[in-house]
Amino acid sequence: MTWHIMGAGSMGCLWTAQFLKAGMKPTLLLREQRLHTLQTKDPVLAIEELDGTTHHYPINLESPQSLTTSIEYLLVCTKAQDAEAAVHSVADQLSDQCQILLMQNGLGSQQAIAQHFSSQTVWAASTTEGAWMKDFLHVCHAGHGSTWIGPMGHTPDESTWQGLRSSLEKLPVDIQYTHPIELKLWDKLAVNCAINGLTALYDCKNGELLDTEERRARLAALTEEVTQVRSAAGIPTPGNLLELVKQVCRDTAMNNSSTCMDARQGRKTELTFINGYLIEQAAKLGVKTPANQQLMRELANLGIQ
Ligand SMILES: NC(=O)c1ccc[n+]([C@@H]2O[C@H](COP(=O)([O-])OP(=O)(O)OC[C@H]3O[C@@H](n4cnc5c(N)ncnc54)[C@H](OP(=O)(O)O)[C@@H]3O)[C@@H](O)[C@H]2O)c1
Repeated sequence: MTWHIMGAGSMGCLWTAQFLKAGMKPTLLLREQRLHTLQTKDPVLAIEELDGTTHHYPINLESPQSLTTSIEYLLVCTKAQDAEAAVHSVADQLSDQCQILLMQNGLGSQQAIAQHFSSQTVWAASTTEGAWMKDFLHVCHAGHGSTWIGPMGHTPDESTWQGLRSSLEKLPVDIQYTHPIELKLWDKLAVNCAINGLTALYDCKNGELLDTEERRARLAALTEEVTQVRSAAGIPTPGNLLELVKQVCRDTAMNNSSTCMDARQGRKTELTFINGYLIEQAAKLGVKTPANQQLMRELANLGIQ
């Protein structure tokens, strides 16, 4: 069972390292331009573990253009806004039975890919693993977590479920299988809708969103709109969503959200697939989302997209 992993960023390198630790031989897919500029014929992936040790693994790198074999299992580790184009770039190499596992935050990209690649089996994941890149092909594992995986779109038959499970069973990662995965993705979306954009707006750490009355009120308004959209869409809300959001702010008080970091570095954020997705769904359902819309306007005025 060979996994191809698309995207040599934090998640792509972290998961590639997990496959390598399990004794499997994954192929990491880069953009052609990136592969072309590599200085070495014997690339090595370095992973810095939480205990401070660093492990090095020889790694097989390819690009969509250099691939000569077909893809049976594809793990997509790009940002949400790049995921569709990334899968399309290997569309000709996907086998008919290919299983595509999407690792993106937010919602929208998963549905678009599941719809377009309906003859393959598309899975989505939500993960609380954390990683960051020290350098190209040098990843730092920032935190252990869990990863929930479930099918997007139609329910696969038992042998397809089994195929995916057995292809991942040796990985030293906590994986939970769940159906429908949309519930997990919506739970994460709720937290991200409330926290990510605000941390970019105030250029602050997650915990600092609880510091002032104004920030707490905005957290509450954003969260309430998520609850209303979920309810209109018939998606059950787990307990008190605002309490969950505040707990995440407390648990990750010293962290900078990925959106805050992207904004600082002038990179495109994933907010189109977070608050943007919520606003789009709300409009279809006739639910008003003034707090989310105002946040997106303020961010746009600051040049944060
Ligand atoms: N990092 C975390 O701790 C973490 C935790 C939970 C969830 N996530 C989610 O996981 C997803 C990936 O995040 P990340 O932190 O790994 O992002 P990242 O570090 O920015 O990595 C994304 C990688 O995808 C590559 N890429 C984009 N389009 C490509 C294409 N067409 N072909 C080949 N490679 C392509 C990028 O390469 P270029 O630089 O060449 O564009 C980049 O190396 C996001 O949705 C994120 O929210 C991340």
